[in-house]
Amino acid sequence: MNKYIDITNVVLKTDRLTLRPWRESDLSDFYEYARVDGVGQMAGWTPHRDIEESKTILSHFIEGRHDFALEYQGKVIGSLGVKEYNEKNYPELAALQGRELGYTLSKDYWGRGLMPEAVKAVVDWLFNEQKLDFIIVGHFDWNGQSKRVAQKCGFQYVKTTEFETRYGTMETCLEYIQYNPERSE
Ligand SMILES: CC(C)(COP(=O)(O)OP(=O)(O)OC[C@H]1O[C@@H](n2cnc3c(N)ncnc32)[C@H](O)[C@@H]1OP(=O)(O)O)[C@@H](O)C(=O)NCCC(=O)NCCS
Repeated sequence: MNKYIDITNVVLKTDRLTLRPWRESDLSDFYEYARVDGVGQMAGWTPHRDIEESKTILSHFIEGRHDFALEYQGKVIGSLGVKEYNEKNYPELAALQGRELGYTLSKDYWGRGLMPEAVKAVVDWLFNEQKLDFIIVGHFDWNGQSKRVAQKCGFQYVKTTEFETRYGTMETCLEYIQYNPERSE
């Protein structure tokens, strides 16, 4: 089952990044990367058409309290959400507590290992502080970049599902899981 998560006042530091809750003042940084073609589509959403669309999504991030902003050298360059996983796909996990991670990085910063660094920090926090039993990540079958993040962060393939994108396609989604090494059986 999904565990309730609230990241209010949570700040995670890695070597290069600060992960912290989104703020209204992040709007222009958010729009700057979310408007770029070929980024959001890899995660199932379309590039933002205007700054108003970014403002709407940003308010969902702030109110939802489970999406981290990724700050790098004073600028927000991505997001990492501790989303609810689809419980219907995992009846075998009903007695355990978990969540699913979803992430996007500005295209200008791809290929520097920044997202694996952020994912590892959030996995550590979710396992050590929030005591989750498992964490899921998934990617569309054609998204090799996201697959590499899952591999680098120690996730193991678990199953294939179908996912309907915001732009109306059905995508095959490969899903991966990682269990808390400290979890009691
Ligand atoms: C997936 C994503 C978060 C990876 O972040 P990242 O910090 O660049 O991750 P890494 O630096 O570890 O790179 C991962 C892989 O991307 C590929 N890659 C790196 N730079 C790239 C570039 N400029 N263009 C295309 N692919 C690139 C490489 O295959 C790399 O794997 P490698 O390190 O084994 O060579 C980022 O590509 C992204 O935001 N993509 C769009 C949104 C998305 O796919 N989100 C996930 C949805 S499930």
